[in-house]
Amino acid sequence: MPEALVHPRRQTLAMVTLAALACAPAYSRAPAAIPMTEPHPLIIAHRGASGHRPEHTLAAYTLAIEMGADYIEPDLVITRDGVLVARHENEIGATTDVADRFPARRTTKVIDGAEVTGWFVEDFTLAELRTLRARERLSFRSQDYNGQYQVPTLAEVVALADSLGRARGRVVGLYPETKHPSYFREIGLPLEEPLLAELRAANLDRADAPVLIQSFEVGNLRRLAGMTTVRLIQLLTGGAPTMVTPAGLRGIAEYAYGIGPDKGMVFGADGGGTQLVQDAQAVGLHVHVWTLRAEPRFVPARFSGNVREELRALLALGVDGIFADHPDVAVEVMRSAR
Ligand code: G3P
Ligand code: CA
Repeated sequence: MPEALVHPRRQTLAMVTLAALACAPAYSRAPAAIPMTEPHPLIIAHRGASGHRPEHTLAAYTLAIEMGADYIEPDLVITRDGVLVARHENEIGATTDVADRFPARRTTKVIDGAEVTGWFVEDFTLAELRTLRARERLSFRSQDYNGQYQVPTLAEVVALADSLGRARGRVVGLYPETKHPSYFREIGLPLEEPLLAELRAANLDRADAPVLIQSFEVGNLRRLAGMTTVRLIQLLTGGAPTMVTPAGLRGIAEYAYGIGPDKGMVFGADGGGTQLVQDAQAVGLHVHVWTLRAEPRFVPARFSGNVREELRALLALGVDGIFADHPDVAVEVMRSAR
């Protein structure tokens, strides 16, 4: 993002950071938690290095950090006893061995208006969930790691980012996504309060923390904006056209630090770019695009299966960050772009 377009909140952040350093309390996490200068564009490990290990496992997050990702992304859902855990959705039949271990727990629910049949995190205590092992979701990715890893808690992911960041002498950021926040609030298991409590416990409930909270829902982001100064990201898909108009983007800028659009929203049909990146940055929003995946089937046809060319095209459009299943590829390409 050009200097002239730096978000006012970001400038404030640098000042807050200096002040925080000057009078830092004797808290062990404080020095490593402060993003003095954040890398740009950001490399966000999507569900960990999920192109290489089963998604949302400590192994996937660890590999992502070893590969050089700036942020790791836990999607969050919650157990029956109120513990935040990392899963892409609350139905866990596709990403764990739950069907083998708890066959009788299979049920059907309506989640955000859609009927879903399977096994749901909110029907399990953490102790029960701990008996499960993760599986690779996609059949064309390696199945070699199935059965090895547990479902991690958010607390474990926070601790991992802290300890591996310290060991490497750099900040590893957290990019949690609240999944189905309205649904969970309706069933009496809201996500926002425990998320902020976890961040607070790690001294990360701050505007200058290396944390970005994301959601597809507007209501819970507005709610979060009233509860925390942690930076917020409004996720977008092509199904919300009014949100990407200049007026819509100005509305998002009232509560969010940035947007997280599907990459199809920044690539134009003609092979060039849409106006979205410039329009968003013009109102001070950062743009973090999802999702870069190295397998040719995920790469738009005009790049002939070459994910590096796809990433170079996204960088040429001026994006401020990329969610990547293969952070190693992003690190390799961005080494020359930063
Ligand atoms: O959070 C960015 C991107 O991950 C949104 O899509 O479905 O992979 O969580 P999803
Ligand atoms: Ca996500």
